[in-house]
Amino acid sequence: MTTQNPVLVIGATGKTGARVAARLAALGHPHRGVSRRSEPAFDWEKPETWAPALEGMKSAYITYVPDLAAPEAQENIRRFAEAAKSAGLKKLVLLSGRGEHGAEVSEDRIRQSGLDFTIVRASWFNQNFDEGFFHSSILDGVIALPAAKRVEPFIDVEDIAEVAVAALLDDKHNGETYEVTGPRLLTFADAAAEIAAASGLPVSYVPIDGATFHAALLPAVGPEIADLMTNLCAEVFDGRNERLSDGVQRALGRPPRDFSDYVKAAAARGAWRKAA
Ligand SMILES: NC(=O)c1ccc[n+]([C@@H]2O[C@H](COP(=O)([O-])OP(=O)(O)OC[C@H]3O[C@@H](n4cnc5c(N)ncnc54)[C@H](OP(=O)(O)O)[C@@H]3O)[C@@H](O)[C@H]2O)c1
Repeated sequence: MTTQNPVLVIGATGKTGARVAARLAALGHPHRGVSRRSEPAFDWEKPETWAPALEGMKSAYITYVPDLAAPEAQENIRRFAEAAKSAGLKKLVLLSGRGEHGAEVSEDRIRQSGLDFTIVRASWFNQNFDEGFFHSSILDGVIALPAAKRVEPFIDVEDIAEVAVAALLDDKHNGETYEVTGPRLLTFADAAAEIAAASGLPVSYVPIDGATFHAALLPAVGPEIADLMTNLCAEVFDGRNERLSDGVQRALGRPPRDFSDYVKAAAARGAWRKAA
């Protein structure tokens, strides 16, 4: 990997990281995709794994798990940026979350790193419905969230990956914060109705309170993540995110992909088909 600008992709098996790595591969651009299962492995909880992953890289796409709103995230991001600088990286592209105070503090750690940077600050992913946490409950016919009747401009992770790759490969995006959303505001009931119509599954949205959401999460993810996700929902579903942003248009010169196109393509692929 001695050619120009090799890119470290963190979370390369995840919803955005896999697509960033695939786009770089399609362009023939040198990159190293890492996660806890790669060789070398990269683990946010094991700082000793960071330097081997960074070696020989010139830029990085950063996804932080479990979320930039986690209490330890800002210090980890600061230390990672420092390690990246020591390793000779020139540019960092950070995936951030819209309307999250903790994420904005982590964004500042990247801005203060002294390296070139682009922030890609995203709304709720379309692909949460077929690749993420909600997939199995959708197969059971329910999207249960403490989101009341809030509207959200769901974004396609293909758009996020395209913006991230543009930022990684073209210096004209340096210093930008792209707030990326889809082109339409939908309620979760609207989203459920579109998924139901395209998939044939009887899916509906059930608004629940934070305590019910927390109790449902607890057995699957434990208290720390249940607290984090419940607090995060209270923050991002307080009305602050009920608006569109123009990040995709500004970064790529075209409008973002529409939710209906995502739903039709996922349904056609069998994303919500129940196993026989
Ligand atoms: N989902 C949304 O709607 C949304 C919206 C805005 C922003 N975001 C942000 O998106 C980020 C999540 O990105 P994503 O959706 O691409 O993730 P994802 O699909 O959940 O994938 C997570 C990736 O991180 C890796 N990973 C898990 N634990 C790790 C650890 N301790 N150290 C290093 N890697 C680890 C996973 O691979 P291994 O299991 O192999 O390690 C996987 O590659 C979060 O920071 C979140 O704030 C999400």
